[in-house]
Amino acid sequence: RVLAGGREDLAGRHVVVSAGGTREAIDPVRFIGNRSSGLQGYALARTAVARGAEVTLVAANVTLPDPAGAKVVRVESARQLRDAVLAAAEHADAVVMAAAVADFRPVRQSDTKIKKSSAEPDPIQLVKNPDILAELGEIRRARREAYAGGDGAYEAPAGRGPGTGDGAGAPEEAAPGGPGPRVIVGFAAETDDVLANGRAKLRRKGCDLLVVNQVGENLAFGTPDNAAVVLTAEGGSVDIPRGPKEDLADVVWDLVAQRLA
Ligand code: CTP
Ligand code: CA
Repeated sequence: RVLAGGREDLAGRHVVVSAGGTREAIDPVRFIGNRSSGLQGYALARTAVARGAEVTLVAANVTLPDPAGAKVVRVESARQLRDAVLAAAEHADAVVMAAAVADFRPVRQSDTKIKKSSAEPDPIQLVKNPDILAELGEIRRARREAYAGGDGAYEAPAGRGPGTGDGAGAPEEAAPGGPGPRVIVGFAAETDDVLANGRAKLRRKGCDLLVVNQVGENLAFGTPDNAAVVLTAEGGSVDIPRGPKEDLADVVWDLVAQRLA
């Protein structure tokens, strides 16, 4: 959105958006995945570019064309998504996790195609994937604590962060990892007890905003429209009526811009 004087309200901000759904390989031709077209994440990326932000879009298995003006990083699995998001988040003002991340992945991935034999198939054993949103919140919490403690001098944990400062006034051994993104946004699709589940999830993940969709009624998956309620860490909520995913994206950026101001 354009501010007085013609400046866009996200100018000078770096935002990271994840989109799509991860795929967890079973063998070279099969995977466990999540239903997600990537449309909402791409709408978030497009609208952020339009509002002047520098945008990194981490796209998991999305077949849409790259949005103009965004840096696009393509990934497949949850672990690849995690690495890409955490790296980009090091120098981000806000991170929006619109991607559907597979909660589990097969313990073993076969290097060769699993053949149908006369025997009964082996069950697929699963292991939990990292929770990227919770990890973002945890990294930020730990770093804020480190900043607040002591004499105000921030000591980053060894080995954290890319250490690739742009040099602008940064000390020689560029601080490995700043305080973390100021705004962290999650998405949740719920089928029942939508608000209660959303509230509990927001607290559990330590994010600032949680966009909660009700799944069903032809909403959410693969449709151009979406409807949601955005829950805030302070206990507030903002209703977003059914409409284009761009409109929902703009409300999310309104709330992010408010928190960054
Ligand atoms: N998410 C994540 N990493 C995961 C799973 C989810 O970062 N391993 C993020 C999603 O991108 C989304 C938010 O967390 O922004 C909520 O995802 P959801 O699947 O609703 O939450 P879960 O904690 O996985 O809970 P559930 O048991 O309801 O699936
Ligand atoms: Ca999940």
